Amino acid sequence: MIVVTGATGALGRLVIADLLERGVPAEEIVAVARDPKKAADLGVPVRVADYDDPESLRAAFEGADKLLFVSASEVGKRVPQHRNVIDAAKAAGVPFVAYTSILKADDTGIALAAEHQATEAYLRESGLPHALLRNSWYTENYTAGAAGSIAAGAVIGSAGDGRVGAAPRADYAAAAAAVLTTDGHEGKVYELAADEPFSMAQYAAELARQSGKPVVYNDLAPQDYVQALVGFGLDEGYAGALADADQGIARGELASDSHDLSRLIGRPTTSLADAVAAALKG
Ligand SMILES: NC(=O)c1ccc[n+]([C@@H]2O[C@H](COP(=O)([O-])OP(=O)(O)OC[C@H]3O[C@@H](n4cnc5c(N)ncnc54)[C@H](OP(=O)(O)O)[C@@H]3O)[C@@H](O)[C@H]2O)c1
Repeated sequence: MIVVTGATGALGRLVIADLLERGVPAEEIVAVARDPKKAADLGVPVRVADYDDPESLRAAFEGADKLLFVSASEVGKRVPQHRNVIDAAKAAGVPFVAYTSILKADDTGIALAAEHQATEAYLRESGLPHALLRNSWYTENYTAGAAGSIAAGAVIGSAGDGRVGAAPRADYAAAAAAVLTTDGHEGKVYELAADEPFSMAQYAAELARQSGKPVVYNDLAPQDYVQALVGFGLDEGYAGALADADQGIARGELASDSHDLSRLIGRPTTSLADAVAAALKG
């Protein structure tokens, strides 16, 4: 039985759909959700659990052969939540855990990585057999704002001419599904990133090419980027984390030439052009 946490999220949903497409019987998959109503359309059995409720997690993991542990979404709360998940997996005797971490977790300086680094260390110390799915950024982090960028004629950021190995969530989901449905992944560390990383200038140029409208990249000083994001309604802490991550992109920390992602999914990663086309199609 394959148990998937975060199953109601954007990534978890794609993993469940991918597992079903690969022929895993629905009754062999369990979606873990804190709100079962959000999981009603997934087409697989649902168990209710919250990362803040250890007992609910232990019950949800009962009988699991493999657990996909999707990292939690509330930055700043994730270390205790993730410890709860790992403790529960251990208590339930789960034989294999795959954890969605961040690219280059061993040596990245990106502030958002700290909770992943703490989780990886706790997972190692737990003795649970596991694999690390170290994901780079989702292309959707950019393309979700594609229409707005085209309307404004500009993409803004603080990444300089750094390149990001972003891939669509569907690529990372396919990698997770591959790890969950094949053998030999214990102890593996996968550095998952696009085959062809792109700069923000290249992203802006792709928006321009496909929309037929002028779009440029305006590179801002980190503090100016934070202020711009706050102006768009982001809270200051999150805006700061995004600007910090852009500095990481400038240092090359969200790109990798490992090709682990294309190897796991058995095809090249989705190109920037295809990701932009899909986003503009809506
Ligand atoms: N690589 C990237 O670019 C990137 C970007 C953003 C986030 N991430 C990380 O990747 C993860 C998956 O991405 P995503 O796009 O699928 O995020 P998402 O759509 O926000 O999904 C997060 C999932 O975690 C669940 N969750 C959050 N807190 C929980 C709790 N206390 N107990 C139980 N479940 C909880 C959510 O449940 P609900 O549906 O009930 O909220 C949801 O199912 C994120 O959680 C985050 O750690 C990566």
